[in-house]
Amino acid sequence: MNFIMNLVFFFLATLSTFSTALPLQRRDVFVPHILYPREGTVWFVGQTHNVTWDTSDAPTQITNPRGTIILARNGRLDLDHPLASNFSILDGRHEIKVPNVPEGDVYNIVLFGDSGNFSGNFTIKH
Ligand SMILES: *[C@@H]1O[C@H](CO)[C@@H](O)[C@H](O)[C@H]1NC(C)=O
Ligand SMILES: *[C@@H]1O[C@H](CO)[C@@H](O)[C@H](O)[C@H]1NC(C)=O
Ligand SMILES: *[C@@H]1O[C@H](CO)[C@@H](O)[C@H](O)[C@H]1NC(C)=O
Ligand SMILES: *[C@@H]1O[C@H](CO)[C@@H](O)[C@H](O)[C@H]1NC(C)=O
Repeated sequence: MNFIMNLVFFFLATLSTFSTALPLQRRDVFVPHILYPREGTVWFVGQTHNVTWDTSDAPTQITNPRGTIILARNGRLDLDHPLASNFSILDGRHEIKVPNVPEGDVYNIVLFGDSGNFSGNFTIKH
């Protein structure tokens, strides 16, 4: 319950921020579908991995073409420590290093461009 609500509130807040910031501009919102990591993926602290996402449905005009990758644990986004930022959201992949975080089974990757989408639950181990 908390998990879902955290994410929902976060996305609503993000969307309304963009809406009020850009009232007159035509906006094509691209919500990337994360392909990896997926439900059941296991990462180890210190490893390097490519987060990958589907760009096949990307609109030609994107309001915010720069991407940010955030790690969430139990539905809480660690906004202060993005795993990566300022890459092109059209790249379809970005390499990240698994940070030294507690072991857990309810991690998600959140990818932001115009808007955010999150991966399935995956595991981080030591
Ligand atoms: C977000 O990603 C999920 C799968 O991870 C996908 O099913 C869903 O369509 C995506 N949301 C949007 C708005 O594209
Ligand atoms: C990420 O993808 C790039 C391009 O395919 C590849 O060169 C690189 O080795 C990959 N990194 C990892 C950790 O697999
Ligand atoms: C983001 O990347 C663009 C293009 O590579 C670069 O021009 C810009 O300075 C970068 N911005 C920041 C804050 O690093
Ligand atoms: C991911 O984990 C959360 C918290 O345990 C759970 O509420 C949610 O249903 C899980 N998602 C999936 C797709 O299993």
